[in-house]
Amino acid sequence: MKIDSEVTVRPARNVRGAVQLPGDKSISHRYAMLSGIAEGRSRLENYSTGADCASTLACMRALGVKWSRVDGPGNVIEVQGSGLSLAPPSALLDCGNSGSTMRMLSGIVAGQSFTSEMVGDESLSRRPMERVIKPLSMMGAQIESQDGKPPLRITGGSLKAIDYHMPVASAQVKSCVLFAGLFAHNETRVEEPLRTRDHTEVALRAFGVNVERKTAGAGSEIRVRGGQRLQGVDVRIPGDLSSAAFFLCAAGLFPQSELAISHLLMNPTRARLLDILMQMGLRISVTQLDEVNGELVGSLQIEGGSIKGASLAGADSAALIDEIPVLAAIAPYTESGIEVRDARELRVKESDRIAALATNLRRMGADVDEREDGLRIPGKQKLHGAEIDSFGDHRIAMAFAVAALRAQGETVIRGAEAAAISYPAFFHTLDELSER
Ligand code: S3P
Repeated sequence: MKIDSEVTVRPARNVRGAVQLPGDKSISHRYAMLSGIAEGRSRLENYSTGADCASTLACMRALGVKWSRVDGPGNVIEVQGSGLSLAPPSALLDCGNSGSTMRMLSGIVAGQSFTSEMVGDESLSRRPMERVIKPLSMMGAQIESQDGKPPLRITGGSLKAIDYHMPVASAQVKSCVLFAGLFAHNETRVEEPLRTRDHTEVALRAFGVNVERKTAGAGSEIRVRGGQRLQGVDVRIPGDLSSAAFFLCAAGLFPQSELAISHLLMNPTRARLLDILMQMGLRISVTQLDEVNGELVGSLQIEGGSIKGASLAGADSAALIDEIPVLAAIAPYTESGIEVRDARELRVKESDRIAALATNLRRMGADVDEREDGLRIPGKQKLHGAEIDSFGDHRIAMAFAVAALRAQGETVIRGAEAAAISYPAFFHTLDELSER
């Protein structure tokens, strides 16, 4: 679904309906990479429709992995795994806008006995990569970069296992090191200071890899032994909870709203948003819960009410890092506002999300206190429609389409096409759910 570069969002009276989300972006990336280094065939149903996950598939193809899209509904990808040895890349590995692709795939190419060159778009070329360069260099990979930023030129080979204590809580870095650990002699150990999403650990187990995890303080310690072979799997990828966040927050804007979402990812390391929205006063009931390939998947119903504010810091800010943009965008409509601390990482996402949020909220007439590591947005504010800039960032484009639903007058989102990075059908679905 093609998105115009400029989308106008009109205010709504209510949000109501039923929706199913395309496959989770984090899980889709991992399954595309792991099915490529597995043996045999994998079938990935409900693969993410976003451009980022298409970048991962394109990189896997450049590394010799054969895959095809299956005609018909369900967005199915069939992958014929190459096993642990990939082919020297036939082209640059173009990661597009996707930090996940570059950071996680670097762990796999570091284990290959050839040189790969990973490039990205303008936004990705500004993002920090030393967080993966450091552990991979410790494992024996040779990496050239532009002062810690892309492009990355990685010469891999046989790696040595490390004991790595991550300075920043990052699931991408954890995944990179665990993936590299598959190609290392002995056991690689990663310690994360705070618990981050665990889809890599869950997916590795689904492919037959033995991964151990134990709690270590507020974080965890994960171990994987090198040389284990992966076996192809059939999976139906659960709906993306970070995409659902936009609709859940839209429902929060109207007391009479009612939404039903089925086949949604409910992994506890991702579902903190549901607790926060409930604490803010939304009624959420989980109507079904199953475990599929190790991931919790469920259906839920959400009903609007009054929305209180929230204060997010520490582990909450880390757990909600992808949902903070939309929470901040609805903050002015809450009773007591939203404060976000300890979220410095937002400054190095697809855009500087703290600055992008403050700029756009102010354009809509909101009072915002921008801080180095977050924001404080008072509640009980009235916003007006405005011209919003996505800053090329999918989550900023979508967050302000939600804020626009309760503003006075129309809002124009410039750079709206960025939404296709994770959710090409977003504006269409938002429109269908909005009552006017
Ligand atoms: C992701 C981890 C998070 C998140 C990103 C996806 C992942 O990044 O913001 O959208 O799939 O592992 P960090 O690892 O940098 O925290």
